[in-house]
Amino acid sequence: MDTREVRQLFTGFFEQREHRRIPSASLIPANDPTLLFTNAGMVQFKPYFMALAEPPAPRMTSVQKCFRTSDIEEVGDDSHCTFFEMLGNFSVGDYFKAEVIPWAWELLTSPQPGGLGLTKERIWATIYNDDDEAFELWRKVGVPAERIVRYGEKENYWFAGPVGPCGPNSEINYDFGRYEGWQEHECHPNCDLPACHRFLEIWNLVFMTLFQAEDGSRTPLPQPNVDTGAGLERWASPLLWEGGTDWRGQAKSWSRPPAIFDSELFRPILDRVAELSGKDYEAASEVERRAIRVVTEHARAATFLLADGVTPANDGRGYVLRRLIRRATSFGHGLAKGEQFLAATADSVIDLMQEEHQNLEEQRRFINQTLAAEESRFFETLWVGQSQLEDFKKQHSNQRMAGAEVFQLWDTHGFPPELTMELLAADGFSVADPERFEVLMEEQRARSRAATRFEGDAGRIQTYSEMGLAATEFVGYETTRALAVVNAIVLNGSEVVRTVTPESAQGKKVELVLDHTPFYPEGGGQVGDRGAVVWPAGRFLVEDAQTVGEGGLTVHAGEIETGSLSVGDPVEGRVDEQMRSDTMRNHTATHLLHAALRQVLGTHARQAGSLVTPDRLRFDFTHVEAISGAEIQAVEELANRAVRENILVSVEHQSYEDALDGGALAFFGDKYADIVRVVGVCDDDALECFSKELCGGTHVHASGDIGSIVITGESSIGAGLRRIEAVTGRVAAERVRQQEDMLAKLSAVLQTPASQVDTRVAELKEEVDELQKAMRSMERRIAKGEADSLFAGASKIGEISVIVARVSDAPNADFLRDLGDGLKSRLGEAIILLGSTVEEKPAFLAMATPAAAKLCGAGDIVRVTAREAGGGGGGRPDLAQGGGSDPARVEAALEVGRHLIETKLAESV
Ligand code: SER
Repeated sequence: MDTREVRQLFTGFFEQREHRRIPSASLIPANDPTLLFTNAGMVQFKPYFMALAEPPAPRMTSVQKCFRTSDIEEVGDDSHCTFFEMLGNFSVGDYFKAEVIPWAWELLTSPQPGGLGLTKERIWATIYNDDDEAFELWRKVGVPAERIVRYGEKENYWFAGPVGPCGPNSEINYDFGRYEGWQEHECHPNCDLPACHRFLEIWNLVFMTLFQAEDGSRTPLPQPNVDTGAGLERWASPLLWEGGTDWRGQAKSWSRPPAIFDSELFRPILDRVAELSGKDYEAASEVERRAIRVVTEHARAATFLLADGVTPANDGRGYVLRRLIRRATSFGHGLAKGEQFLAATADSVIDLMQEEHQNLEEQRRFINQTLAAEESRFFETLWVGQSQLEDFKKQHSNQRMAGAEVFQLWDTHGFPPELTMELLAADGFSVADPERFEVLMEEQRARSRAATRFEGDAGRIQTYSEMGLAATEFVGYETTRALAVVNAIVLNGSEVVRTVTPESAQGKKVELVLDHTPFYPEGGGQVGDRGAVVWPAGRFLVEDAQTVGEGGLTVHAGEIETGSLSVGDPVEGRVDEQMRSDTMRNHTATHLLHAALRQVLGTHARQAGSLVTPDRLRFDFTHVEAISGAEIQAVEELANRAVRENILVSVEHQSYEDALDGGALAFFGDKYADIVRVVGVCDDDALECFSKELCGGTHVHASGDIGSIVITGESSIGAGLRRIEAVTGRVAAERVRQQEDMLAKLSAVLQTPASQVDTRVAELKEEVDELQKAMRSMERRIAKGEADSLFAGASKIGEISVIVARVSDAPNADFLRDLGDGLKSRLGEAIILLGSTVEEKPAFLAMATPAAAKLCGAGDIVRVTAREAGGGGGGRPDLAQGGGSDPARVEAALEVGRHLIETKLAESV
């Protein structure tokens, strides 16, 4: 059986047993800050197991895309991958052990259609210590007691991370038996002899009954659940082994258990890598074979990560992707120097897998381009970095490299530390002080954090959290003015006071906390509101509003202008209304531009960051190529059409899942609460939405309020990322006004109608070019005339003609050069020194023919001459130029030069 057909066989088997087939979720877990990636089939079902949400059906089955980095260094051996597909069936408070064990047995061993027909005698089960119920169930299906092995928590318990659902499990192992070349030893399913390969875990049945809290305590889940997971890739090995064929179905008798790479899931990709590197996989050395497998696996994983919206970066998910690409590039480089593999390999991944994963084809261009760009970026430093690494190694005869050197490789050459360690380990090296590396990394992070004002200010966060204040209620969606009570006053982020006056706050930064506030605290790209807090006898100018810590506290930072203010005083918060409405226009415009970009460029264009201020907006998104002027125009036009249609902006609160089901765009880097705010720009019956996004920001009531949107810039800001900038409303109108004024001025100066300014400027430019050309030829003619008169004044010392002359103001330095050239061509052996003023500054030129230069070089002449005029210069013995600062000293300087020439030549006569 073709391993690819197993997906269908598995889900079909469970569909016949009343399971609902659920599509794979993204590799980026939705709304789960505890996980960087979806690492198991159960991830998307976690809320159901914990009874936080109602499952679509109590019985479910899926083929889930998964990504795990835990084994990344093992990748390249027979069985490890970072990306894999997990087959699974799930019960939420429905069936339990008594159903799932016989089903698993039937699916694996039944020779009937719908079963895999594996040899029953090769199946072993492992169970948790005291799980007699599972033991009995395995016995009942026919597994003899000696093939049911008990283990402890390390082997037979499954956890969804340190916090989350968990439970004992039963693992199904396949026994390849004593194959040829297998070293006789006492073996069992969890045998950890690296070269053993006799047993392979093929399916994990988890009886998920408990919840583990942060402190490690476990409490029963509301209902018992079943979560099973089987790596599709792993099933290939027993299938090929028992089928006695290779991946093309040709008869083959395997002398040892097949590797995952031998299957139809990998082999076409692997063959492509081998072809690109000019190697024959079968005949290659083991080091080369491993490198081919690493490139194959990593290219496959990177393709899937990119398709799900991860882009290379220096932290978080993006860092994992970058590390993967760099590891692959480095191994690829070892296979064929200078060859780039990844984009071409990604093509074969997409060709092979697009049927089951449709987003691959959609994102093909984006994937190719990002991989090629990232690979070539690393390529540029790879050679230098590797030779640097070799140098470091040579300096350490004790085979221990310094942490600081590992850091340097990352900092200057982009070598992920993990890659460096791996390259070192391969040669028996280690790092003497890994802590030093961590310290340097942390310092670097702190430096980049320091650049942002509030973040990383741990002391400040602590000050506020120790005060134990209640969260600030935000009323700014409905109003820009609100009565409130002062809850806290803090000076310089640490000094907690009860009262503040302009005097007591002199030179200090003042922060206020109110019980509720109309001020929007910076978040979701939107800047904090500005305005004032007023009370009968005073006024506090709010320069910024920020959230501090995790407790929902809004801090108003600014300056106390007049009066005295104490904790407990009633005040009124007044947001600067113009500032706020300008900001709201820009925020809604950002959503419209996001939607328009996706329509024009494709759905790969996803938000990667944004900044919304009153003056302008900036929007960063994933897209590799440059964007044409026509595309920018189309985006701007689409967004402005939505403005003109004056569509109502709606705000709804929904569960995160409902919001995503309804097509709302989420910014995957963000944490979202269970109930999210969805901002839509949708037609009346909400059937058609121009834009729909999860967003906490403040927005206009209807798109028409924006007035108009003008895109002011578009640029690249890194691998696969671009940025657009735009202005709206008042600022857009001002900008248009300014540009009209400028145009009117231009049209007046040029005495040309505004509509023809561009042609007129082009004409003028042409005229200027013509005039410059004419002037050059005129200058040359003048130079020639001057040359004639200077020629007449040449003197001779020995065989050498000497001309030292002041030229009346030269139009530019080239003029002296032309003049000198003209003279030289008419003299035999000669030395020429010319001085002039160019733009009111002394300028000198000396030339010497070869024989003359030996006696007195032009460089020396100019150096001495120019120094006399308060400047300097130099050059070659045959030609040198210089300048000075005092135009009155040109003659005197030339005399000094003449003296030098005459003295030197006289010496030789
Ligand atoms: N969650 C378990 C695993 O990932 C079974 O699906 O192994």
